[in-house]
Amino acid sequence: MSQSIDHVLQEHRRFPPPREFQSCARLSTEEAYQRMYRESLDDPEGFWGRIARELPWMQPFERVLDWSGAPFAKWFVGGRINASAVCLDQHAYGRRADQRAIVWEGEPGDTRTLTYAELHLEVSRFANVLKRRGVQKGDRVAIYMPMIPEAAMAMLACARIGAAHSVVFGGFSATALKERILDGGCTAVITADGGWRRGQILPLKPQVDEALEGVLGVHTVLVVRRTANRVTWNAGRDVWYHELAAEASTECAPEPMDSEDLLFLLYTSGSTGKPKGIVHTTGGYLVGAYLSTQFVFDLRDGDLFWCTADVGWITGHSYVVYGPLANGATILMYEGAPTTPTPGRFWEIVERHRVTIFYTAPTAIRTFMRLGDEVPAKSDLSSLRLLGSVGEPINPEAWMWYHRHIGRQRCPIVDTWWQTETGSIAITPLPGVTVTQPGSATRPFFGIDAAVVDDQGRELPPDQGGYLVIRRPWPSMLRGIWGNPDRYREGYWGKYQTMYFAGDGARRDASGYFWVLGRVDDVLNVAGHRLSTMEVESSLVSHAAVAEAAVVGRPDDVQGQAIVAFVTVVKGVEPGEALKEALKEHVAHEIGKLARPAEIRFTDALPKTRSGKIMRRLLRDVAAGVETTGDTSTIEDYALLARLRGDEE
Ligand code: WT7
Repeated sequence: MSQSIDHVLQEHRRFPPPREFQSCARLSTEEAYQRMYRESLDDPEGFWGRIARELPWMQPFERVLDWSGAPFAKWFVGGRINASAVCLDQHAYGRRADQRAIVWEGEPGDTRTLTYAELHLEVSRFANVLKRRGVQKGDRVAIYMPMIPEAAMAMLACARIGAAHSVVFGGFSATALKERILDGGCTAVITADGGWRRGQILPLKPQVDEALEGVLGVHTVLVVRRTANRVTWNAGRDVWYHELAAEASTECAPEPMDSEDLLFLLYTSGSTGKPKGIVHTTGGYLVGAYLSTQFVFDLRDGDLFWCTADVGWITGHSYVVYGPLANGATILMYEGAPTTPTPGRFWEIVERHRVTIFYTAPTAIRTFMRLGDEVPAKSDLSSLRLLGSVGEPINPEAWMWYHRHIGRQRCPIVDTWWQTETGSIAITPLPGVTVTQPGSATRPFFGIDAAVVDDQGRELPPDQGGYLVIRRPWPSMLRGIWGNPDRYREGYWGKYQTMYFAGDGARRDASGYFWVLGRVDDVLNVAGHRLSTMEVESSLVSHAAVAEAAVVGRPDDVQGQAIVAFVTVVKGVEPGEALKEALKEHVAHEIGKLARPAEIRFTDALPKTRSGKIMRRLLRDVAAGVETTGDTSTIEDYALLARLRGDEE
């Protein structure tokens, strides 16, 4: 990018940490933050060594970092540790034995609580069931589960015996599951008969059966009974978890794992080609998840931490399971849809269980905005003290709504930037210290040397958009792409050699805050000016009639790209020609004529991946009127694509 990304969003609202929050925060002064951040960069080995020693190692590490095989890092070299022992044993045999580890609510309203002592026992039992079925240290196990406690138990049970898990989101198709099972060389699958979603049973076993057709390497399908729907059975391969669990011992010593042994694979889609199995190892990942959970969410005794992500995503790995449990926190897990049976289900859960920390995604926040302010107003949200956001840039409108209607102007918001690849939060406010601004993830977390650079890798001056990079290794970074070291080297380190390129565009302002502009492949080029799709979308969403917007570029002879905006309207608004004109004017007014959309298309929904990311790649094809050739296996609503196309005729 010889030329930088023009940024057009100016955000001047600033929110210092609320005094009440700050007065008991873990970190509450700028000086304390600066001291710690400086130490993490000036003496990384000292810093990370000290933090890592807070975890229970089975054998101490000899060296903090070995970067001689760059870009393949080794952290806490020579150390032995077990992730399930970090999350369970240290608490189950200590003062937290009777503290709740998991508070779970099923969609139909059933609940379950497990103390640390109970979870320790259940995970040990689960581990013995896996062993009994021949799962061994070094094996890979696919987990395809609804959000029930057994999903977390399955992950921890694998970790306990030294098998790596590969969690595949329960909403993925049989084809996607098969591809991941084959790529990872999984030998066992843990699943359930089904889960509850929007008042219905979402069956899982049929997808597993279909995925395993013609697959010879999987010897066991372990099925947890959740919904009691009928399932087909493949005798010899399929086993009910509850049947084996009834006979299994509840004692299972955790396997001492090398710090660099594989903890899990997690597949993520690249811009092209087949999904990448992101490799995370044991020691460094745990240290990153542990430290970030503690400081970003300012954990305290008595907190009830609710990260709404599914365990099928990295957010569910790091902030539902490993980070909070490593810290001895109590987590809330919820099985179902946010709006079942009532639009206020999430807020009812917050009220019922007195959730204190709530971490969700901008797409969910925009859904709630659309449902109306009166929905959260019905619930007592006074237990909340901290809110978080992750997954995509949060548009200032959504940030402000979250702040007002959920945080009731009392709770700091942490907008956390990170990736499957970073393993843990990398750019984020620290809630007792950082003055937040809607739309900015603010500053790098400890040990993260982030920068915005140009095409040649030169750091850009303030307020110029460019490429977001991390200039040195960090403990929870990916160790590679499963089975494809070259794709790792080229994809992440090929552009700059000595810097990790995250694939995102960003700018850094004069005060050092990062403003993530989104993936660089989502960047528009209109008349020689680079524009972030996100900024145009934010402007559209700031119009009262608009619920959600996705903006793409369509090839244009004159301008290079013309902006096409796909828009959903709020309830009660009549989409029509007049509104189209009004929206174009609105954007032109807010950002400038340059950003004025050439075309507005109303739609009843936007195509999204199951994790809620808008699939702009598909919209680009629709806008250009060409067939989609890329992978559509992750789209949530297949029929929508046809509707979007039909709209063209
Ligand atoms: C991509 C990573 C990390 C958990 C969920 C997504 C985007 C994520 C933010 C944020 C702006 C964000 C980036 C990143 N992203 N968080 N706070 N502000 N953008 O994990 O599927 O690996 O996606 O999500 O574009 O590269 P993922």
